Amino acid sequence: MKKISFYLILLVIAACTNNQPKSGDARMDRFVGELMGKMTIQEKIGQLNLVTPGGGILTGSVVSTDVEAKIKAGNVGGIFGIYGPEKLRQAQKLAVEGSRLGIPMIFGSDVIHGYKTTFPIPLGLSFSWDLKLIEKTAQIAAKEATADGIFWNFSPMVDVSRDPRWGRISEGSGEDPFLGSQIARAMVKGYQQNDLKAPHTMMATVKHFALYGAPEAGRDYNSVDMSRMKMYNEYLPPYKAAIDAGAGCVMSSFNDVDGVPATGNHWLLTELLREQWGFDGFVVSDYTSVNEMIDHGMGDLQAVSALALNAGLDMDMVGEGFLTTLEKSLNEGNVTKAAIDNACRRVLEAKYKLGLFDDPYRYFDDARPAKDILSDENRAVAREAAAHSMVLLKNEAGVLPLKKSGTVALIGPLADSRNNMLGTWAPTGNPQLAVTVLEGIKIVAGENAKIVFAKGANISDDPEFAVKINVFGPRIEIDERPAETLLKEAVAAAQSADIVVAVIGEATEMSGESSSRSDITIPESQKKLVRALAATGKPLTVVVISGRPLDIPEETELADAILFTGHPGVEAGNAIADVVFGDTNPSGKLTASFPRNVGQIPVYYSRRNTGRPQAGEVFAKFRSNYLDVENSPLFAFGYGLSYTNFEYKNLKLSKESIAGNEEIEISVDVKNTGNYDGEEVVQLYVRDVVASVTRPLKELKGFKKIFIKKGTTETVTFKLSANDLAFYHQDLQLFAEPGEFHVFVGGNSDASLSEEFTLE
Ligand code: BGC
Repeated sequence: MKKISFYLILLVIAACTNNQPKSGDARMDRFVGELMGKMTIQEKIGQLNLVTPGGGILTGSVVSTDVEAKIKAGNVGGIFGIYGPEKLRQAQKLAVEGSRLGIPMIFGSDVIHGYKTTFPIPLGLSFSWDLKLIEKTAQIAAKEATADGIFWNFSPMVDVSRDPRWGRISEGSGEDPFLGSQIARAMVKGYQQNDLKAPHTMMATVKHFALYGAPEAGRDYNSVDMSRMKMYNEYLPPYKAAIDAGAGCVMSSFNDVDGVPATGNHWLLTELLREQWGFDGFVVSDYTSVNEMIDHGMGDLQAVSALALNAGLDMDMVGEGFLTTLEKSLNEGNVTKAAIDNACRRVLEAKYKLGLFDDPYRYFDDARPAKDILSDENRAVAREAAAHSMVLLKNEAGVLPLKKSGTVALIGPLADSRNNMLGTWAPTGNPQLAVTVLEGIKIVAGENAKIVFAKGANISDDPEFAVKINVFGPRIEIDERPAETLLKEAVAAAQSADIVVAVIGEATEMSGESSSRSDITIPESQKKLVRALAATGKPLTVVVISGRPLDIPEETELADAILFTGHPGVEAGNAIADVVFGDTNPSGKLTASFPRNVGQIPVYYSRRNTGRPQAGEVFAKFRSNYLDVENSPLFAFGYGLSYTNFEYKNLKLSKESIAGNEEIEISVDVKNTGNYDGEEVVQLYVRDVVASVTRPLKELKGFKKIFIKKGTTETVTFKLSANDLAFYHQDLQLFAEPGEFHVFVGGNSDASLSEEFTLE
């Protein structure tokens, strides 16, 4: 009886959490089956073709041509990169009224961190550890994008990355699979909200499948090679979490996995994704990644297109290898009709789930853009999200928050820059709408404070570097005045002020796609500025705006306070000012470790022990350490300060040991001992002390972001069961091993408050 009601509850939960038709849904099957019965083979192949007529940001060198004729010929399944209900209605009309079977097209875009209301870059958002807030940003992005006719999103990007040289670390949620999985789920929920037909929701695409965040040497698009155990335990969980949350689409990645490019990798796209994980949506390639398999050395266009289809790829982005070669491959026996049918069915099913066969124009409402896009409420969420994503890395002698009085010298190449606030991959955002730091500081400081501004330095003095960064518009603007003049002016401004705030870091395009760096320090021009400002002896706050963790030991030494903001989005200046003046108490925590130098990479908290671990931080011969740098990162995963202090006490476990089917409760008291109310991210880590394979020294297994009023204590409780302790073994079986476990609780991954329990 008990068992039956348990299953009933599960069924009800499943029905409530996802009311999408699944493969096997009788009405959908019948509809799609009947439609496919009328389609020619070339029309089926046409559904697998995704085009972009250009106009937006293009990430490859190819743009689709003759789009109108192709649509009418039934050779286009979907379009991305065009916007607005009117334009999209016209395009849809070409398919619905102009093609033989009138099959509607699917319209996509990269809505990575907001549509027009640009939120912080995803790495920044992840620093908030605030799943509700992240979900809300995705929900707003969906509302704005659908108002503009876009109902298929190439997000979330959930690639785990432990390599800040890789420019696209900015687009993900950092280094940890557990946190990454929670964020992946929140974003899919935000975009899809369990009802793809609703006018305010869009289909999510999990990308880049798979392992794209681990390219060799941190160079974009580079090869990836890792053990299956590492994949399953450390890199695959966020993709799986997004799929379990119901994401309708998966995008294959550019890199190879185990020697076969992801886009043509049968193990990845069929055995793992569909057979093991039960994914029933469709798989789209990345931009020309089918064609790029020619350069990977997998054959000519016909061969790589057949390889991709046979691997389980359903839709070909831009490259048109499917369109131009699959029929030939069918005739020559290199692909089967069943393989083409399967891919076509999945694309049509997605259209069915989106409600396009009921009404192909359902997302094109001319009244919506003005109402739903860039509303005051949306901008308010952008400001809140940005302020809650910032990480206070240092705050000596309580330099921050600043008083709203006296003279503040605001200095630096990013202090009055509008073009560098949105961050990478905001093709639908408008940099001109961003609030600069200077504007924000003036607004929030009010009339009692005097703000003096000086640029102080160029982001970089190197014109050749600037050319590479300015591909999408001016980001690095090299001043006509000599560097010495800028510097002198800045020092004079600093000397005239009570306090100095320097705003430095990376231009928008210094991170993101194809923006890997082998040196992740602040450019020399800005380093000189920080040195000169520190030499004035004035209290110095350094605000670092950047798309990646940086190598900043020198700046950390020189500054009294450091606030790391990521690229904060459209409300950048306001949000920075909110934090700097204490209207918002910072509560962000790093989700990617900051190395002391590039040679430590990959540096991440969940490392496994060696047989020769170092005791402490001092070099010891024949121990696993460096001659020239400590092992520890400059700032660890989970780290971030507040204007108040939190004290952790009374860590208690409900039991000393648990059986396989039991739970253990872990509780801890967190006291706000400082002078400000504040939020803290309470983190729970576990170590599996003895196992049949080497295990990480610590793994994040839970976190709660809570608000604690000054002087008060909150008790935070976590639960763990054997499921939470399970990991993939050499044979890729998932189970927990009995034995001793250590539990650590604290405000970052160095948490040392610890207890033990046994799993029987
Ligand atoms: C990127 C994807 C993106 C696609 C379409 C590619 O270059 O890797 O993340 O979705 O372009 O714009």
